Amino acid sequence: MVYGFINLCLKSLVVEKFGEEAWENIRREAEVEDNFMTYTYYDDVDTMTLIDVACRCLAVEKSTVLMLFGEFFFEFCVRSGYDHMLRTLGENLVEFIENLDSLHSYLTLAYDKMNAPSFRVEKVDSNMFLHYYSDRKGLAPMVIGIIKAVARAFFQSEVTMDILSEDREEDRTRKKEHVVFSVTQRRVGGTGSQKPPKYVAQSHKGSEQQIRKELTTSIQSS
Ligand code: HEM
Repeated sequence: MVYGFINLCLKSLVVEKFGEEAWENIRREAEVEDNFMTYTYYDDVDTMTLIDVACRCLAVEKSTVLMLFGEFFFEFCVRSGYDHMLRTLGENLVEFIENLDSLHSYLTLAYDKMNAPSFRVEKVDSNMFLHYYSDRKGLAPMVIGIIKAVARAFFQSEVTMDILSEDREEDRTRKKEHVVFSVTQRRVGGTGSQKPPKYVAQSHKGSEQQIRKELTTSIQSS
């Protein structure tokens, strides 16, 4: 099951980039009703079918659609009022990713049945690896899209991500899918002397308690 927030995001993407008619065709062919609500929980099959049909109708590869979906998802979160909340997650990409589990865990206040993904950063020498755990299969390109958009919007950098491995397993997180990406980050634009915006989670991984406090403040002020 998945929250309508995701389906509404998919709908906005198709409508904005390809038009109302394209959405109507995709929705009809997928045999999915167009009555999504943000906080209602829907069958995953609806979302996956919509994505598959969209690939067919638009003649675009699934990984490309998912990557585009990821990039749009970030924009959709910002537009839906989560901008400030997202900015509290870290002053660099590593901190941001390290705090994603706290973010999703906090979001269960609003989306109580959420089956959220989990993320872990591993640094080996100067290499960065991102571990993504999920109970859903095949969404790795969506992660690439989101992280690229985050890096561009918040950290003035371009990111390249390659999938190193994709396993079906249950490990410490009890999630079924475990994907490892290698991540390369390159700073672009700006003068290098520009200070990033002020983030509340400073150089260390924010504690659950700290993140909750900051997120509560950001909700109240948004
Ligand atoms: C404040 C911003 C965000 C909100 C409101 C949000 C909310 C959600 C919701 C409601 C779901 C559906 C889970 C379910 O219904 O079981 C979800 C899934 C997901 N979220 Fe977030 N999220 C946010 C930020 C992020 C960010 C920054 C990432 C970065 C990678 C991310 C990665 C994902 C992924 C990959 C999924 C797909 C589900 C899966 O992998 O199993 N989210 N999120």
